[in-house]
Amino acid sequence: MGSERKAQEGVYFYDYNLHQQDQKQEILHGLGQLPKRISAKYFYDQAGSELFEAITQLDEYYPTRTEIQLLQDYRQDIIQQAGENALLIEYGSGASTKIRLLLDALKPQAYVPLDISKDFLFESAIELRQQFPWLEIHATCLDYRQPATLPRHFSPHAKKVAFFPGSSLGNFSPEEALSFLNGVRATVGDNGALLIGVDLVKSHEVLNAAYNDSQGVTAEFNLNCLRHLNSLGQGNFNLDHFDHHAFFNAEQSRIEMHLISKYDQVVSLFNERLRFKQGEAIITEYSYKFDLEGFQQFVQRSGFQCEQYWTDENQYFALFWLKAV
Ligand code: AVJ
Repeated sequence: MGSERKAQEGVYFYDYNLHQQDQKQEILHGLGQLPKRISAKYFYDQAGSELFEAITQLDEYYPTRTEIQLLQDYRQDIIQQAGENALLIEYGSGASTKIRLLLDALKPQAYVPLDISKDFLFESAIELRQQFPWLEIHATCLDYRQPATLPRHFSPHAKKVAFFPGSSLGNFSPEEALSFLNGVRATVGDNGALLIGVDLVKSHEVLNAAYNDSQGVTAEFNLNCLRHLNSLGQGNFNLDHFDHHAFFNAEQSRIEMHLISKYDQVVSLFNERLRFKQGEAIITEYSYKFDLEGFQQFVQRSGFQCEQYWTDENQYFALFWLKAV
C-alpha cells in the first residue's frame, strides 16, 4: 500500500494514490463507455492544479471569492462550531488557501490535507508550515473517494472536523455524493462535523460564464487533462483536435464540461487505439448545483444533519455546518 515519510519537523507525507495498473484500468474503462468519460480527478496534474488556481482568480468564476468572503464574514460562528484542538481534515486541499483563514483561531492538533495532485500537495504543505510553524501537517495523496487513512497516533476521542470547500461535492453524481458523505461521516465519527461549501443554482448566464471565461483559462484547464493522460499512458492526444464545451444542463442541475472531437480520429493511449467520431464528446466533469432546501434534505440521508448555514446576499454560494447524528 502507501508510503510514509517525514519531510521535516512537523510535516509528514503519505502516498495512497492508485497504482499505475489501476489507474490505467480506470482511464480505459471510462474511455470505453458511451459517452466516453474521464474522471474529473485527471484534471489535476501539476499544470492542472496551477490552472485551477488561475481559474479561482477569474472575474467570471464567482465561487472561490464568494466562499472566501463567507469564511471571513462568518469566521466567529465557524470557530465556535469547530472548537479548538480538533483533528482537521481537508478534502481536496489544493494550495490550502482557504483553511489559512481559520488556522490561527482553530489551533487544530493537526491538519490533514488530502489531495490527488502529489507534488502540488507536498509543496503546499511545506509552504503552509512556513506560515504556521506550530502546525503539525499530515499531507496525504489519494483519490478522496477512497477512505482516508488517518495518522495513527491520534486519540480516537479527538474531535474530528472535515472541511470540503469549493463545491467539489458537485463533481459526484447524487449516489456518489451520498456514499462520499457516508465515508466522511465514518471518518469523523460520532462527535465529528463537516464544513462544506456548496454552489447554488442561479441565473444560467452567470453559471455558463463561470465555465466559459473570456480568457480561455477554463478551456485550457479542460484540454490539459488530455496532456495528463498522454503522460500517464504514453498517449498521442493532440490538444488542437478537441474543443472545450461547457454548459448548464438545467434538467440535471449541473454544469457539464465536455471535450469535443473536431474530427474523426484515432488516438493511442496505453497501447490501445481509441476511436473518436467528429463531434463526439468526452465528458470530463459534472458540477452539480444545489438549492438550500434540497441540500439540507439530501444530507439527512447520510448521517449528518445541518446545524447552521451561511450564504451571501446574492445566494450564489453557501457554507453548511453538518454535524454527525
Ligand atoms: C473544483 C470541482 C469545484 O466544479 O467549479 C472549475 C472545478 N471546473 N472550472 C467546479 C472547475 C471548471 C470546480 N471544482
